[in-house]
Amino acid sequence: MAMAAVTHLQLLSPHSFSCSIHQQQTNYSSFPFLNSLSLPPPFANSSLFLDHQSHKSSHFSHGRCFWATLSGQKRFQGFRRCVAELAAGTVLRKSPRDTNVLVVGSTGYIGKFVVREVLKRGYNVIAVARERSGIGGNFDKEQTLAEFGGAAVCFADVTDLNSFKAALEAQGSQIDVVVSCLASRTGGVKDSWKIDYEATKNSLEAGLAMGASHFVLLSAICVQKPLLEFQKAKLRFESELQACDKISWSIVRPTAFFKSLGGQVETVKAGSPYVMFGDGKLSACKPISEADLASFIADCIHDQDKVNRVLPVGGPGKAYTPLEQGELLFRTMGKKPRCIKVPIEIMDFAISILDFLVRFFPSLEDAAEFGKIGRYYAAESMLVLDPKTGKYDADGTPSYGTDTLEAFFEKVVREGMAGQELGDQAVF
Ligand SMILES: NC(=O)c1ccc[n+]([C@@H]2O[C@H](COP(=O)([O-])OP(=O)(O)OC[C@H]3O[C@@H](n4cnc5c(N)ncnc54)[C@H](OP(=O)(O)O)[C@@H]3O)[C@@H](O)[C@H]2O)c1
Repeated sequence: MAMAAVTHLQLLSPHSFSCSIHQQQTNYSSFPFLNSLSLPPPFANSSLFLDHQSHKSSHFSHGRCFWATLSGQKRFQGFRRCVAELAAGTVLRKSPRDTNVLVVGSTGYIGKFVVREVLKRGYNVIAVARERSGIGGNFDKEQTLAEFGGAAVCFADVTDLNSFKAALEAQGSQIDVVVSCLASRTGGVKDSWKIDYEATKNSLEAGLAMGASHFVLLSAICVQKPLLEFQKAKLRFESELQACDKISWSIVRPTAFFKSLGGQVETVKAGSPYVMFGDGKLSACKPISEADLASFIADCIHDQDKVNRVLPVGGPGKAYTPLEQGELLFRTMGKKPRCIKVPIEIMDFAISILDFLVRFFPSLEDAAEFGKIGRYYAAESMLVLDPKTGKYDADGTPSYGTDTLEAFFEKVVREGMAGQELGDQAVF
């Protein structure tokens, strides 16, 4: 593809824009590559104006001025990318009631909160669900429809692109933004590639076919150090999304969810000690609640400063090591801390045995992977990894929201763990 640096870009109407390329006066025909340019919606059938006049003072006066950001400050290496951003800018300027948001993975722990939050903000939501959804397929169609009152629900198979596209077409609404909260429910090797990569990619393609110009991806902070299959699958999709010149994107990489830190509440409440690996300080995280993360994801639909950005995000307050999590839990229950510290080498031993056995019994592949997932979370922090030092950086991990781990522990000690079940992902 021919490349050009766009130095000025200005929206003239919802369907046309002017821009300067390499700061030369130019016109459409002098850039042959533009003739074959297929523009993303809403410019698909629009005329293209190229203008050497850099109108520094734009006559648009909208608050978050999209083109002001572009004007002369950034140099865009791909013209199509630039136009895709402009298209996203148009979406960003649409009012919520004119914006159709497709949510895939809507029936998951985070997806449910995203549907609620996006509806609350006044967007039109199309939630994609399976006919039986939730942990263990416990929810039927009626329950899903009741759960998502206010949203349109599209029952579809995201793992099959053609039938997924057909289901969306039958739904009939054009789509502006896709939000993906899809994830393998097991974290197994094949399922991770099927969902975190293939089904998520299907959502991109189906969304594009229905006119989407922005894609918000729920990923994970741990992809910074990809040792596990689900992380590699997520990263592959992340990089393909970033390379796609037909759509703009926001990649959200959260730290640990509350559910992942609540696994020992019931046992500790019943009198057992809190179990941790090593000295209990091998890792740390800044946990974030479902509601706060859903709010951050919803921000990505409209916030210009979140477009084409990889966004690590944690909850409010400090980073907690497992030792501190255990101490906090005992404090919440008004009990004296009682901990068991397990050498991490025990996990390494178990993993090496499973890895050996997998050579003869391929069916143990997932068991070995689950062991590695457990080992990973025992020793790796869910914080921003500083590429220069190779160390995790609690201060460099952005905080968002208001729900604290302390308040979460208080709630689950009082009310139980309903809604915080790990389901098939018993290890994370
Ligand atoms: N746990 C953590 O601490 C943590 C931290 C950071 C990031 N993350 C990441 O956050 C993401 C979302 O997590 P979550 O806990 O919300 O996930 P979840 O509760 O397991 O939800 C997964 C969603 O994907 C859908 N899905 C799974 N397999 C499917 C299939 N074969 N066909 C159709 N849909 C399928 C599920 O639909 P059904 O309801 O029909 O099964 C559900 O809507 C994951 O990518 C995870 O890696 C997690």
